[in-house]
Amino acid sequence: FSFAEPKNEPVLNYAPGSAERKALQAAIAEAKSQQRDIPMYINNQEVRSGEKMEIRPPHETAHLLGHFHVGTETHVKDAIKAALEAREAWAATSWEHRANVFLKAAELLAGKYRWKMNAATMLGQSKNAYQAEIDSACELIDFLRFNVHYLTEIYKQQPLSSPGVHNRLEYRPLEGFVLAITPFNFTAIGGNLPTAPAMCGNVVVWKPANTQVYSASVFMEILIEAGLPAGVINLVYPPGAVIGDVSMAHPDFAGVHFTGSTGVFQTIWKTIGTNLPTYKSFPRIVGETGGKDFVFVHPTAQVDAVVAGLARGAFEYQGQKCSAASRAYLPSNIAAEIKDKLIAELKTMKMGIVDDFTNFINAVIDERSFDKLAKYIDNVANSNGKAKIITGGKYDKSKGWYIEPTIIETNDPSYVTMCEELFGPVLTIYTYEADKWEETLTVVDQTSPYALTGAIFSQDRHTIETMTKKLVNAAGNFYINDKPTGAVVGQQPFGGARASGTNDKAGSALNLYRWLSARTIKETQ
Ligand code: NAD
Ligand code: ALA
Repeated sequence: FSFAEPKNEPVLNYAPGSAERKALQAAIAEAKSQQRDIPMYINNQEVRSGEKMEIRPPHETAHLLGHFHVGTETHVKDAIKAALEAREAWAATSWEHRANVFLKAAELLAGKYRWKMNAATMLGQSKNAYQAEIDSACELIDFLRFNVHYLTEIYKQQPLSSPGVHNRLEYRPLEGFVLAITPFNFTAIGGNLPTAPAMCGNVVVWKPANTQVYSASVFMEILIEAGLPAGVINLVYPPGAVIGDVSMAHPDFAGVHFTGSTGVFQTIWKTIGTNLPTYKSFPRIVGETGGKDFVFVHPTAQVDAVVAGLARGAFEYQGQKCSAASRAYLPSNIAAEIKDKLIAELKTMKMGIVDDFTNFINAVIDERSFDKLAKYIDNVANSNGKAKIITGGKYDKSKGWYIEPTIIETNDPSYVTMCEELFGPVLTIYTYEADKWEETLTVVDQTSPYALTGAIFSQDRHTIETMTKKLVNAAGNFYINDKPTGAVVGQQPFGGARASGTNDKAGSALNLYRWLSARTIKETQ
């Protein structure tokens, strides 16, 4: 078998008057004219529990988009049963056939369903058209196509044989089912976490965040249309604790593919540890978790590049990318110029609903996030002079969960918003003495437990080398003279270590190996 070399899916630009803008606007209007009744999918069958939860756009909470059906313990058990019943046939299905299901899904997503999927992400997760396009269209399509490519390469890797002895590796799926638990902030991650193990021949139970159910259900419909056999991926919506407790208590639990907060991942790991003696195999534990991503600016940095990197890196998608810049270290020689230009740039960012394509900023995901961010902003007033708000700081929940793009300036590099993950449009800036740049790298490395993404800006090759070496463990994705967001599948494999996860690099062969359990076969003639 051979499949075409993948290329990154081109990003459409939705320029005013363009055909793609009209198509996307029509999809948004259609989605808003309906009230969806979103079922779970077990064995490719729609399942409705009758207990419904509302879905409303975070940026327009007066509008009801529909409901989804909340799952129970019984639905989790049914999903596991369906998965285990499908396992043998799916594991025995040829790689060519399996791969073609996911390539077909990518094709459907790139064409027929692009607008529907982007509209679901825009409305359900409050992303503007560009943010939805790079996520639920391009990144998800790339995950599907590149993972097929990487897996094809893995399957070709075979050990040496010798005269009279033939050796081979058989790349089996895991023995049992895989649990995929996905966050709200990337539809592409939602799609990748169940499909990467399924591609390897595994069967999966998938639970998305409540605020991702809408886009997840559209992707599930695409997978079914692409020919995914019944039971291979089962999509259910129980509360987090229910999915965790029921599935991780099952003896056939073979692994978890998780993306979300560090705290939830720690709970999952502890549960697995407690249940370990009851499992048939040691489960694979793959988790990408929180971050406190930095931008470190060297005194030689180019000011406009830094301003652009901070404006986009900290505020696109309301700072709710796991990769978003949330703490910046500026050198005293250019700090004032950077701050002035950045504040001016923020003032040009329009905030509002996603239907208006001129809004750069939309709403944060839900009331819990809104309240948490408002509290961090309010607490600046009680910081005893350690911090002040230099732009933004307003919030308003009358129409949606709106937080103004905000910059906090602190004179204390350990101030709480320099250390904790806020997950919103709030950047904290600390200015250091320009001649102390090397000492400040230790602060960058040690003030946060996380190590997901980070960026340095410098025009001096020697200092770039020094910073790259000194910050060797501070970020799994390290950017030089660029923002710390926007990793592209096939170009920048993504993931972090320390409290940011197991660093199994989504969208790479490194991740796929985790879903395979190889058997070595030696045959003597
Ligand atoms: P979250 O941890 O609140 O939820 C993630 C998922 O876990 C959801 O589906 C949730 O329902 C489920 N869950 C909650 N409690 C559970 C339990 N006890 N057992 C099993 N599942 C449970 O995260 P979120 O708010 O959806 O996403 C934001 C977080 O995700 C941030 O911390 C962000 O940094 C992180 N994230 C990390 C990456 C990465 O690649 N490192 C990427 C995206 C998001
Ligand atoms: N691809 C996403 C980013 O890097 C996760 O922002």
